[in-house]
Amino acid sequence: MRIVVVGGAGTIGRKLVPALRSRGHEVVVAGRASGDVRVDLTAHDTVEALYREVGAVDAIVGVAAHGALDEFGTLTANSLADNMKAKFFGQVDLVLTGQHHCADGASFTLTSGIFADEAWPHVTGGGVISGALHSFILSAAIELPRRMRINAVSPTMIDDSKDAFASSFPGMRPVSVDELVTHYLHCVEGDETGQIVRAYG
Ligand SMILES: NC(=O)c1ccc[n+]([C@@H]2O[C@H](COP(=O)([O-])OP(=O)(O)OC[C@H]3O[C@@H](n4cnc5c(N)ncnc54)[C@H](OP(=O)(O)O)[C@@H]3O)[C@@H](O)[C@H]2O)c1
Repeated sequence: MRIVVVGGAGTIGRKLVPALRSRGHEVVVAGRASGDVRVDLTAHDTVEALYREVGAVDAIVGVAAHGALDEFGTLTANSLADNMKAKFFGQVDLVLTGQHHCADGASFTLTSGIFADEAWPHVTGGGVISGALHSFILSAAIELPRRMRINAVSPTMIDDSKDAFASSFPGMRPVSVDELVTHYLHCVEGDETGQIVRAYG
């Protein structure tokens, strides 16, 4: 398969991309400043340009762009909307735009996160982003044309990111990035659609 991994140079992507290549897939890595082709999930024209550049690919994987931490007491509707731009609206844009460019039967595998299902302090935005992504997956799965599929992997904190995140989320049990990679491979190579794969350690 010819596959685009948006955010493929990041923590998950660095393990996922070699795993996909070792299984014979041709992988194009996309990022704002990293990878083979440029895309910024907050800028629709760059998403259009990405699809024009890569052509009719068989799979898109989104492993890019975190939600930011927030303070509920000072949160505003505008800052919440800003926080949703890259990870929620950007991944949604990959699908809404990609449906017109990707090959018949192509798959979209997006990344959400545990805050859709568990409340933790300072991640109202993260929860809203991932909860909205889960709802989007359900609708898109029945609406996408030409036998296209869509799923999401919803990770908890990844073991490789413990140093960065453990102090923000004390007591959160991590998931191994190797386990996550098997979930992404299953979403790309399998035939399921509309699934949220919860990887909560
Ligand atoms: N790490 C964790 O513990 C964890 C836990 C739960 C969920 N997740 C989710 O998993 C996904 C990937 O996480 P990660 O830890 O692998 O991320 P990461 O290490 O920060 O890597 C993110 C990648 O995405 C690219 N990127 C960032 N913003 C972008 C944008 N606006 N447009 C296009 N590319 C962009 C970055 O490259 P450029 O800078 O070149 O653009 C980078 O390659 C995120 O959605 C994250 O929220 C991660």
